[in-house]
Amino acid sequence: MTEKIQKAFVVYCSPAGSTRHVSHIIARKLQEMKIEVIECDLSKKFSETSIITKINRGNSNACLFVGSPVYVSHAIPPIMNFIARLPKNSQMPVVPFVTWGGVTSGIALYEMGKALVEKKMNLVGGARILSRHSMMWQMENPLGKNHPDETDDQMIQKMITGVVNKLSTRSNGSIDLSTLAYYPSNIVAEMEKMTLKKAKSLMPKRKVDEDACTECKECSTACPTDAISFTPYPEFEKNCIFCFNCVRVCPEDAIKADFSKVEKQIRDRANRFKETPPSQIFI
Ligand SMILES: Cc1cc2nc3c(=O)[nH]c(=O)nc-3n(C[C@H](O)[C@H](O)[C@H](O)COP(=O)(O)O)c2cc1C
Repeated sequence: MTEKIQKAFVVYCSPAGSTRHVSHIIARKLQEMKIEVIECDLSKKFSETSIITKINRGNSNACLFVGSPVYVSHAIPPIMNFIARLPKNSQMPVVPFVTWGGVTSGIALYEMGKALVEKKMNLVGGARILSRHSMMWQMENPLGKNHPDETDDQMIQKMITGVVNKLSTRSNGSIDLSTLAYYPSNIVAEMEKMTLKKAKSLMPKRKVDEDACTECKECSTACPTDAISFTPYPEFEKNCIFCFNCVRVCPEDAIKADFSKVEKQIRDRANRFKETPPSQIFI
């Protein structure tokens, strides 16, 4: 039996916008192919529960696309938490995708694929797309500058065509999870050890200038994990993922962080991995 896709869920979290860009390209291509698309940005309040309900209700002839940025070689917690809440045994075709900032895409795609396969979903594709490094937005020459570009967009569209076509013509179309494990086991072991939680102490510290802060709460609006409370000035809760959107959006420049020290570490790490190709699709 073939599974012509009639509906697609495109679920993502994208603090700095690159994963959102890729999600929009996916959604537009699917719509062009006359497939109904339900897009969901997990950083919006109550979005997770509502999309899980929709996926539970409408999962026949549907496909799920799920996208995360790579943080410290991993997929980010809002995405892994979302995957953990997905229904089991749906056999729904699924395509994980990540955007990475030119350092390493690490084990993010594999981790997502593994968690989805453990849910008994049907892994039918994947993508890793080079993007501007979201911690380097103030720098003239950030890693991943000008990405995703036109070539990346075309690659994503090619993946969508490939996935949709193979699901219409073949009974299964699944790819092997091992194709997403492109690092040797010693590097994987090293990446598994360094979690985002452990890396938090190495992140640039934020300082709130209480004289400059006007308590406008724009930092909270831009926070993808609702991790800012006010007393009355911003304080950062445990569920902060260090996307630094608060620093980026503050209209008064009242939340400061010094990225000069991490820049060398980021570039040194990129030189260590020299990961190629920049973007890649798996179908
Ligand atoms: C805390 C943090 C950690 C990151 N870790 C990595 C990494 O390990 N490898 C990498 O290539 N890029 C890394 N990046 C860059 C992002 O993966 C990249 O810019 C991504 O496209 C951001 O997605 P977004 O624009 O959807 O938020 C990191 C960015 C942040 C803020």
